[in-house]
Amino acid sequence: MIKEERRTAIAEAVARIRERTAGQDVTPELLDDIKQQLLHLAGKTHLFSVADFPPPEEGSKRNSCLYRLSEDEDHRFALYLNVAGGKVSAPPHDHTTWAVIVGIEGQEENRFYRRKQDGVEQTGRAMVEPGAGIALMPDDLHTIHIEAEAPVLNFHMYGLGLEQLDGRNFWNARENCWKVFPAHTDIREARL
Ligand SMILES: [Fe+2]
Repeated sequence: MIKEERRTAIAEAVARIRERTAGQDVTPELLDDIKQQLLHLAGKTHLFSVADFPPPEEGSKRNSCLYRLSEDEDHRFALYLNVAGGKVSAPPHDHTTWAVIVGIEGQEENRFYRRKQDGVEQTGRAMVEPGAGIALMPDDLHTIHIEAEAPVLNFHMYGLGLEQLDGRNFWNARENCWKVFPAHTDIREARL
């Protein structure tokens, strides 16, 4: 019963996003509309519980994992549920496609940056938490910071599936240079 409700709610949200973006250039305003749709979906918290989307088991290499909730056949409109069960941080990076993150449960701090001659400079921050999210244009840079004492759940939606994104840039502070993230390969298929 809950599975069917979840499947329907996801399909309806993605259909509205697909419809809203058809033939449009990606702009911050358009991404804000996508964010509103995802916030609405995230409000149905009984459909997106940690019981159905558990974080990696204790002792795993990573403290967070991604469950794929939806992705078009051409890999557009990729929607994931990200769940963290411990501390998570990521270096400053872009996505080479648009990205929207909204909170379901717990808090994920996002910090924003601009490129400068030699690295990056922070320009702002925002908390992703229930009722709040962020949107990033393809070139926008962010870092994420999770201090999880309890699991943190949020939606990540990208213009294109993460397995397709093999040119995402990140700033490697230790080596003082930009590098490219390999395409993501560890995505779990949600049992919807
Ligand atoms: Fe990111």
